[in-house]
Amino acid sequence: MKGVPRCIRVPKRDGEDVRRRLADSELLDAKYKISRDGEHLNIPVLCDSFEGYEAFDSPADMSESHSKDYKEILDFPDRLNEELPSSYDMIGDVAIIKIPDMLMPYKERIGEAMMEATPSLRTVMMDSGVKGEFRVRELEKIAGTGTSETVHKEFGVRITVDPSLVYFNPRLATERARVALSVKDGERIIDMFAGVAPFPLVISKLAHPEVIYAVDLNPDAERFMKINIENNHAKNIVPITGDAREAVKRLPKADRIIMNLPQSSDAFLDSALEAANKGAVIHMHRVLERAEADVFASDLVERMRSAGYDIHIARTSELKTYSPTMSVYVFDIVKD
Ligand SMILES: C[S@@+](CC[C@H](N)C(=O)[O-])C[C@H]1O[C@@H](n2cnc3c(N)ncnc32)[C@H](O)[C@@H]1O
Repeated sequence: MKGVPRCIRVPKRDGEDVRRRLADSELLDAKYKISRDGEHLNIPVLCDSFEGYEAFDSPADMSESHSKDYKEILDFPDRLNEELPSSYDMIGDVAIIKIPDMLMPYKERIGEAMMEATPSLRTVMMDSGVKGEFRVRELEKIAGTGTSETVHKEFGVRITVDPSLVYFNPRLATERARVALSVKDGERIIDMFAGVAPFPLVISKLAHPEVIYAVDLNPDAERFMKINIENNHAKNIVPITGDAREAVKRLPKADRIIMNLPQSSDAFLDSALEAANKGAVIHMHRVLERAEADVFASDLVERMRSAGYDIHIARTSELKTYSPTMSVYVFDIVKD
């Protein structure tokens, strides 16, 4: 069977080293086989670029060990098959899937089919949405064993998390690496909405900041942060439980601030700017209607100017689709 994964084209002599580093970083797309192309190898990847190699679409054979498509195992009639989700989140060995109402009577069968299709799965959880101030997912086990606590690997970092207790988004891996790779030696960083600290952990692994303060309101977040700091020997991360607005007032001024609270991050931007050095970069994630993103950005600059802060937006990027009309954006804001 063939597919069209994203691949990077690497000289044969470097192939094995690059493959190993991709696997260590959890960025190798093991569903597909590596193919030869003259003196190069096309290596399937789960990212847009790796170590300077840009990814492109390239036909490849499926690897034999690859999990089957759970839809094929279910073999539902077309009318139901069309409603089956084509993607789901994998956090460690836990799969998290949203199931449409009309498929509720079949939820256990769907979970069992996913387990059969992907033997490395330990449990399948049905996701009924993110709720409350802590942005925690409402999860129900539909197949497998154990709880939703698991260890997720990303860029060589081991992230222990229970997504039923603390928010975690495995789809932000590339964004976390991007932020980490822009950190300069000796920076002071604040993550205002850190969860179990995936941004600080990846930064601590890939860069050399002086300190990263990881703030979250959810007391369970601090518990997992402490486990993650210990397991990854990330001694420069300082976990703090509390409201970001209050917590930043007690911290030394930062060179970089991460604001991953996509529903309302801009409401905290004045506090972030107060906590930032001149020239500091603030990575602010925000869910927006696609049609309104440009206006939002220019309004934001004006709003901050009226509040007494000069800023400019150095970079805007659409990270992922959120709904048919909305996307998650990241604004890299510089304090002037
Ligand atoms: C979208 S999650 C981000 C988690 C993390 N950055 C990640 O990538 O997985 C937002 C986090 O902000 C926390 N939060 C919400 N309001 C907060 C506040 N006022 N102060 C500090 N943390 C807050 C929530 O508990 C949640 O863990």
